[in-house]
Amino acid sequence: MSDIASLGDLTGKRVLVRSDLNVPLEQVDGTTAITDDGRIRASVPTIKQLSDAGARVVVTAHLGRPDGAPDPAFSLAPVAARLGELLGREVAFATDTVGESASETVAALADGDVAVLENVRFNEGETSKDDDVRASFAGQLAQLADAFVSDGFGVVHRKQASVYDVALRLPSAMGGLVATEIDVLRRLTIDPARPYVVVLGGSKVSDKLGVIDNLLEKADKLLIGGGMVFTFLKAQGHEVGKSLLEDDQLDICRRYLTEAAERGVEIVLPTDIVVADSFGDEASARVVAADAIPADALGLDIGPESAAAFAAALGDAKTVFWNGPMGVFEVDAFAGGTRAVAGALTTIDGLSVVGGGDSAAAVRQLGFDEAAFGHISTGGGASLEYLEGKELPGIAVLERH
Ligand code: 3PG
Repeated sequence: MSDIASLGDLTGKRVLVRSDLNVPLEQVDGTTAITDDGRIRASVPTIKQLSDAGARVVVTAHLGRPDGAPDPAFSLAPVAARLGELLGREVAFATDTVGESASETVAALADGDVAVLENVRFNEGETSKDDDVRASFAGQLAQLADAFVSDGFGVVHRKQASVYDVALRLPSAMGGLVATEIDVLRRLTIDPARPYVVVLGGSKVSDKLGVIDNLLEKADKLLIGGGMVFTFLKAQGHEVGKSLLEDDQLDICRRYLTEAAERGVEIVLPTDIVVADSFGDEASARVVAADAIPADALGLDIGPESAAAFAAALGDAKTVFWNGPMGVFEVDAFAGGTRAVAGALTTIDGLSVVGGGDSAAAVRQLGFDEAAFGHISTGGGASLEYLEGKELPGIAVLERH
């Protein structure tokens, strides 16, 4: 697969970079604030590398899921400003993706300059299921550049115009961020050092079916927390009160429990749960046994006994993959489980991988030093699909180069 060096001398060349700049935003006093800029920071090295090589760098990215039309709430303008701060240089911003503003902005770039195009998902061609519609939009994007660098790891599982189709139309290469992410995920898949412990959380079992299927064949232990745990507890015959429950996944959870026992994979479920009367009600937070959740209670985190047990189960691990918070970590009363798992990962003597999305945000929000983890992925869905063994279109297309 081609790397940036394979594109040759980039001086004066217009290089389109697909980055994943999909960061969480918040309105504070009428202005937009970025609550976690991890993905922007992770995108800087490739953009800087291209700029230092004298390329005219044109960054394309999405933010959120606008409906194929401009929507100011999803503008990349604040993200472009933050990128400029991190790069320590001016970053031009085009107010459209392939229109007049984009053409003018790109034409005005000098060697080494950087521009960001407005949210690529403001164009219906980006996410269209119709190959011709996507191809036509990709053709417009390709006209803005002489080469393409794919560096948006968080989006390589999407067959979208700026991820997939554009790579069919320009000399293309893999950026360093994508290369690093794939290298780490490969180490989780091919001959991982043992014990190999996987920690899964987040709200829904249904989002994790493929990955559980696959990991039951590879991992030694599977620790389960987060909202998805209640479907497992119910599958074991326990009542879960008002906690999140996916009734239609009970059979599959039962199958996983049986299959794990047959394969000798240890599934560790919490023995206690932090519950509250309702979602925003921290005052009513209390710890109950996992097999005695009151009918009117809502489970919002794994309890302290479970947090300690999870940390102990991680103690001798040589490889760890963690995806999904253990509870509603944004609220301090329900952050204990996530904090314990994150803390345990920082002491691993081996490879510890935080699998993107909410868990990556949790690590930063809870104040952990990112350097204490082996790797913090920028891709939630993308890393899960890789571990499921699925082909990632944004990677497969680069293999043609
Ligand atoms: C993500 O946030 O996981 C990536 O940016 C992909 O976004 P998407 O799920 O909206 O395609």
